[in-house]
Amino acid sequence: MKISVVGTGYVGLVTGACFSDAGHEVMCIDNNPKKIEMLHRGEMPIYEPGLEEIVKRNVEAGRLKFSTSVKEGTEFAEVIFIAVGTPPGPGGEANMTYVEQVGREVAENMTSYRLLVEKSTVPAKTSEHLKRTVLKYLRADTDFDVASNPEFLREGTAIPDATNPDRVVVGVESKRAGDLLEEIYKPILAKGGGKFLRMNVTSAELTKHASNSFLAMKISFINAVSRICELAGADVEQVAQGMGLDPRIGPRFLKAGVGYGGSCFPKDVDAFVRLADALGNEFTLLKEVQKINKTQREHVMKKIKQELWVVQDKRIAIFGLAFKPETDDVREAPSLYFVPELQAMKAKLRAWDPIAEGKFKEIHPDLETVPDLYECAKDADLVLILTEWDAVKNIDLAKLKSVMACPVIVDGRNTFDPATVRAAGFTYHSIGRA
Ligand SMILES: NC(=O)c1ccc[n+]([C@@H]2O[C@H](COP(=O)([O-])OP(=O)(O)OC[C@H]3O[C@@H](n4cnc5c(N)ncnc54)[C@H](O)[C@@H]3O)[C@@H](O)[C@H]2O)c1
Repeated sequence: MKISVVGTGYVGLVTGACFSDAGHEVMCIDNNPKKIEMLHRGEMPIYEPGLEEIVKRNVEAGRLKFSTSVKEGTEFAEVIFIAVGTPPGPGGEANMTYVEQVGREVAENMTSYRLLVEKSTVPAKTSEHLKRTVLKYLRADTDFDVASNPEFLREGTAIPDATNPDRVVVGVESKRAGDLLEEIYKPILAKGGGKFLRMNVTSAELTKHASNSFLAMKISFINAVSRICELAGADVEQVAQGMGLDPRIGPRFLKAGVGYGGSCFPKDVDAFVRLADALGNEFTLLKEVQKINKTQREHVMKKIKQELWVVQDKRIAIFGLAFKPETDDVREAPSLYFVPELQAMKAKLRAWDPIAEGKFKEIHPDLETVPDLYECAKDADLVLILTEWDAVKNIDLAKLKSVMACPVIVDGRNTFDPATVRAAGFTYHSIGRA
């Protein structure tokens, strides 16, 4: 089947590449000409393990192409996925400018039936706005459908997530739209397994809000437990293991740390809180989830201040800038809180990240970064771990100690076993391990 995907970011490019790998003919569109030029040259505009090979394979097979023109994409395919960004607006609500823009351009250019699919994470009821937009700008006398197909992939494991989904949720208003989407996903589900769930559009939109908010709640829950552990003399890792073996709870997303970040959880929880407020039904539980996430960072900052006493002029080595390992994405990453806060206290910062350094420096060009962990820690008074990259997990502790001015680690990710690090001669502060 022919498919267009508008927006070639973390979601759109992965989705388009995986659809083409499943045998469909795909056009990926982006209005950022630099991204499309890179893709034409065979370069990836984002880092995602395994993506480059899939893109290359399908471009060579003639199943995947790129364009900057939504008009071209509208002419090319009957089904058009919208995977543009929906970043938080000035008041925290999701900014729908890009989604609307694509809806308008598709409407102006379609001459026969088209199915517009919301792949971006959007507030419930967006499909109604999108439908009104299409009707306003439609020039031809033709039918169309708007559907919701929320995306659940995770950066860092986006390819296995997209090729082997637990479930595919589609919200549709017509049998035609549902059948088209089922046909698109048939080869993927036949190979990878997973359930195809057909529901109404608002339920599909809400499924995404509810899923991400639930996962964020699990993280905030264990972070709240971690603070009790510190006060009560328990070990949150052991508590989480004991909880997680209960299949009703499950072990995932029970990792205490510096708090959740990334382009999804903070924005999606916020959007759900606002939706509930707008509907006149305050979601107080989620407001608490947000509060715990914010105070968790402050709690880690307190550990740094208590350890250093005077922060000014202290050398702090930051290990990890990405919001999690295996991605170059720094949106809402904890590093974006710690770097300016520590800079304001006049600490001397040096950071290391194997992939996200470039994206971070687009925001904070003044941060000194180095390509080697030991060079980063040279003469440091404290190492702050913000991303549990494998290179950090596997660091040679004796060598690390030998290059530092003071062997102190504040570990925002519980990367190490406390006994091992302390035996290596470090003062070690982690999360929820008294
Ligand atoms: N990143 C994730 O892990 C993830 C997971 C699930 C869902 N989502 C959701 O998917 C959506 C996309 O997220 P992302 O991380 O891929 O964003 P992104 O910023 O990486 O990519 C969005 C792309 O859309 C392009 N774009 C914007 N307006 C356009 C237009 N009018 N025409 C053509 N292209 C346009 C941008 O240039 C950009 O390349 C968001 O709603 C996000 O919440 C993201």
